Amino acid sequence: MAAQIIDGKAIAADVRKEVAADVKALQASHGLTPGLAVVLVGEDPASKVYVKNKAAQTVEVGMQSFEYKLPETTSEHEILTLVERLNASPEVHGILVQLPLPKHVNAEKVLNSIHPDKDVDGFHPTNVGRLWIGERALVPCTPTGSAILAKRAAPDLKGMNAVVIGRSNIVGKPMAALLLRESCTVTIAHSQTKDLPGVVREADLVIAAVGRPEMVKADWIKPGAIVIDVGINRVPSENGKTKLVGDVAYAECAEVAGAITPVPGGVGPMTIACLLQNTVVAAKIQKG
Ligand code: GUN
Repeated sequence: MAAQIIDGKAIAADVRKEVAADVKALQASHGLTPGLAVVLVGEDPASKVYVKNKAAQTVEVGMQSFEYKLPETTSEHEILTLVERLNASPEVHGILVQLPLPKHVNAEKVLNSIHPDKDVDGFHPTNVGRLWIGERALVPCTPTGSAILAKRAAPDLKGMNAVVIGRSNIVGKPMAALLLRESCTVTIAHSQTKDLPGVVREADLVIAAVGRPEMVKADWIKPGAIVIDVGINRVPSENGKTKLVGDVAYAECAEVAGAITPVPGGVGPMTIACLLQNTVVAAKIQKG
């Protein structure tokens, strides 16, 4: 039986609707309009597109958007000074510094300078710690979106064997923490894992976040499993152009899985929706 296709585009629209309602409620109850500041340094074309989309969607849900587009030559000190100013601004509830930063800038130093309560990326060590010990935290957007998609396929993930492929700080590790919070039995697999297909075959829930085009094959998937594909890989297509594919061989895995996310149209659209959701959470944390 063919898998249920988890429609990230539609689910992201639902999340944005909830965010818009939360924004209205905060305005009515506290006269508070959440604000998101996005800092872009340099001319990376993909980053420019992301930042434009973030700003447009921020305004669409009724929040304030503050954009800072700085030249490639901006010094680390200037960026740190801007972050300090945003940390102190009562209109700004969320701060996102778009990655990658130019080579002469220490990205870790910049990210760690963001106040943890305004860290809507959830990258600050304080938020990482809060997530793992179960305190209220700002959680990275891509794993949050992936968990929402998994729960649309199976509202209760309790007791499931979840295998996360990939151990990055941005996706793999926070994904594992979130699934542990959902009472899954979690395995983090990675490039050194022995018998990766065998490990994945045990999974009721597979989260693929490795950045290797179509690596996960149909014979790795347990029949009926939920498959969430975080990968976005650009590969050559038949017509001489390029196309986007995930980390999962979608067509063949859809024959075996119970539910699966497509690429594009799966996890991708969820990321900005969850960023907007985090900005509302940040505004609520800051109002106390
Ligand atoms: N660049 C690509 N993805 C991300 C992300 O999730 N956060 C930030 N800050 N930059 C990115």
